[in-house]
Amino acid sequence: MKRLLTGLQPSGELTLGSFIGGIKQSVEFQDKYDSFIFVPDLHAITVPQDPELLKTRIKKNVGLYLACGIDPKKNTIYLQSENLYHTNLSWILECHTYMGEASRMTQFKDKSKRYGNVSVGLLTYPILMAADILLYNADFVPTGIDQKQHVELARDLAERFNNKYGETFIIPEPLIPEVGSKIMDLQNPTKKMSKSSEDTKGLIFLLDSEDVIRKKIMSAVTDSDNKVYYDIEKKPGISNLLTIYSALSNLNIKEVEEKFKDSNYGNLKKCVADLVVEKLLEIQKKYHEYMDSGMVDKVLDEGLKTVEKLAKEKYNEVLKKVGLGRV
Ligand code: TRP
Repeated sequence: MKRLLTGLQPSGELTLGSFIGGIKQSVEFQDKYDSFIFVPDLHAITVPQDPELLKTRIKKNVGLYLACGIDPKKNTIYLQSENLYHTNLSWILECHTYMGEASRMTQFKDKSKRYGNVSVGLLTYPILMAADILLYNADFVPTGIDQKQHVELARDLAERFNNKYGETFIIPEPLIPEVGSKIMDLQNPTKKMSKSSEDTKGLIFLLDSEDVIRKKIMSAVTDSDNKVYYDIEKKPGISNLLTIYSALSNLNIKEVEEKFKDSNYGNLKKCVADLVVEKLLEIQKKYHEYMDSGMVDKVLDEGLKTVEKLAKEKYNEVLKKVGLGRV
């Protein structure tokens, strides 16, 4: 079975967009691949974080992944900061990365503009990401399009290392999800529903209460045409509601269009809200069960045991090849 590895940054509360656009796909992948899912918490501190918030969010997110259907029997689930081999390998890779290569990363350029006086960690972040991937011989890395360049750096570093020291790393391939699964902000439907948006009116969080979910969907921005059909360019708001309904009902867009073709916008919104509430209350019930039973810690302990063993082997192989230590 090919190995798949993905990291989900604990940079914000998980949203309906994270579920439909990412987690749901990982649930489908878990039967096809040997799946590694981890929380890259070390990546989160490349920009300022509140320690208390960060700490609670890490466990909360793991609880939510499980509640969304990520099965701990089929996935290896762990925290990056608990396995010290990630940062160790990252250092060795840093010493094989050129300054030009690191400073060319688009996300680094964007974020350094946004945050001003940035840390060195923000510059070396993609190299730590390469270590996350290469440490476990991952064949595939599902990520958003914004991370594609980072996976390409991981490929370049793996090739460079293999050429210099002999076959050591698998060259990973990015897996970019289909466009259809992208959920937009309800207040600003041409913009992705992003967990790090400042304004939360257009975001549905997986742990929002029923009331809040209904309110946010009923006040979603639409248009004045009053006809329900799918057209991303002309009707981004309505198309987004249809996409949400389609993703949660497992009907395709054509079938959803057909179902609502004689509906007014109010009725469409109510039906979308009913479905979202039904799904999210189900997820929330499971979430509380997992959090209250200590299941999250158990899963993370087991994951750590598995990955430490694998990482140690790979890291020792790297040390030997580079000429470090006494081996
Ligand atoms: N950088 C990724 C993001 O912001 C998270 C991440 C860190 C990651 N390490 C990874 C994703 C390794 C895939 C594989 O989304």
